[in-house]
Order: sequence, then C-alpha cells, then structure tokens
Amino acid sequence: MRNQIIAVANGKGGVGKSTVSVHLAGWLHDQGHRVLLADCDAQQSSSQWLEEANPDIDTVQFEKADDILDSLQEHAREFDYVVADGPGSNSETSRALLMVADLAVLPCKASLLEVRALAEATKILMQARKIRGGPPPATIILNMVQPRFKLAAEMKKAASALRLPIVSKPWILRQVYADAPGQGKFVWKMGAAGRIGAAEVQKIFEELMPEAIATNRQSSRSKKEAAS
Ligand SMILES: Nc1ncnc2c1ncn2[C@@H]1O[C@H](COP(=O)(O)OP(=O)(O)OP(=O)(O)O)[C@@H](O)[C@H]1O
Ligand SMILES: [Mg+2]
Repeated sequence: MRNQIIAVANGKGGVGKSTVSVHLAGWLHDQGHRVLLADCDAQQSSSQWLEEANPDIDTVQFEKADDILDSLQEHAREFDYVVADGPGSNSETSRALLMVADLAVLPCKASLLEVRALAEATKILMQARKIRGGPPPATIILNMVQPRFKLAAEMKKAASALRLPIVSKPWILRQVYADAPGQGKFVWKMGAAGRIGAAEVQKIFEELMPEAIATNRQSSRSKKEAAS
C-alpha cells in the first residue's frame, strides 16, 4: 500500500507518541520506504530529534488543524508513508489527523488509569470513524511497561471495552528510550545499551505493519516476477 498516513495519537501528554513516531519513521526508512515525519506538535521535538538521528528522512511541521486537513494528504503523495506525531493536548489537531489517517497508532501507558483515560481519547477516533464510514483502523501500543509486567484482569477488561487491538509485545520502560532524544539517536544506534530495545522495537513494528517489512516486500516482488 502506498501513501499511507499513520497518525500516532493520544490526547494525553507524555505517553510516548514522539518516541514511537521517531522510531517508526526510522524503521520504515530502513525497510526501504520513502518516509515523511509530520510533526504536528507545537513543541516540534520529534522533528528535531529525527533530523539529528537521520537527516535523510524528510520532516515537515504542522501547527494548525486546518493545515493538516488542507495539505497533509498532498504531502503524502510523494512518500510511501507519512508518520504524523500528534500533540499531547490540542484535540483539534488530533481530530484533524484522525480525519486524514489511514491507520491510527495509540500509545498508552500500561496502567488501569491510563487505559481508562484512553477511552476519552478514543472518543474522537470513534467520531472520525463515524464521519468517514469506517476508517481509520487503530491499534494500541502499551508503553513504559515494567519488565515482567502482566496485564491485570481489570486492565484487560478496560482495554477490551475499547474494542481496539493491542500489539502483543509491550514497549518496556528502559533508560535507553529516555536517553535517546537527548542524544538525537534511534535506540538501534545506541550500542550495547540499545540492543535489547532495538530488538523489542523491531518486533513491535513488524507486528504493527507486516506489509512494510523489507523481506516481505521483496518476496512479493519476486513472486510477481516469477509469475510473469
Ligand atoms: N519506554 C520508555 N522508557 C523510558 N522512557 C520513555 C519510554 N517511552 C518514552 N519515554 C520518555 O518519556 C517521555 C515522554 O515520551 P514522549 O515524549 O515520547 O511522549 P509524548 O506522548 O510524545 O509526549 P507529549 O504529549 O508531551 O508530546 C520522554 O522523556 C521519553 O523520552
Ligand atoms: Mg510528543
């Protein structure tokens, strides 16, 4: 699939939207895709981080919901994937993103209170789906999860009430993720400290977007070549 806009959205601040966005943009680029990071947060931290981590990946900043509605899809035409990093509070911007997104990724901290708060954030997702007659599909990524954490029964219930799939591998709470933006790096460029994180992030993205994996693209291309 081409020109896919992925909105990384959750109106709650500090849940990992920028962390997920920057790494997802870097991972998609490494799979051989043309990627644009659309930084839709006024703080513009993810575009700065990505420019340091890999200046070959294009970035664009959007400050207004109107601009997203007017021109994000046009920007997307020149890329295979647009990863849009949503803001932590401006619901108009999140709403605009969900109106143009082909996929919504909702990072959420793994606590009962946070999952319950996500119900609030999913309201605008559901409104967008109603207006658009279906899309965008959405997936939750649990972030800042303690190692050896087990999803409590109450949390499973709260999450299943949202009727949204959750990526099976959680994104663990690790110092290396907290250090990555300050160093302007992806975790997979952070040496030994980043190794476990790098493997973890890779598995999460492979599950989230199997169609984007480089080897899957190559094998479908060679099947086509073999058939012709
Ligand atoms: N898995 C993790 N382990 C440790 N630290 C993390 C993890 N994920 C994110 N962080 C740190 O938590 C903070 C919040 O993460 P991030 O900036 O990605 O969230 P955000 O949702 O984009 O926040 P905002 O709503 O303010 O834009 C950052 O300092 C980030 O480095
Ligand atoms: Mg952010």
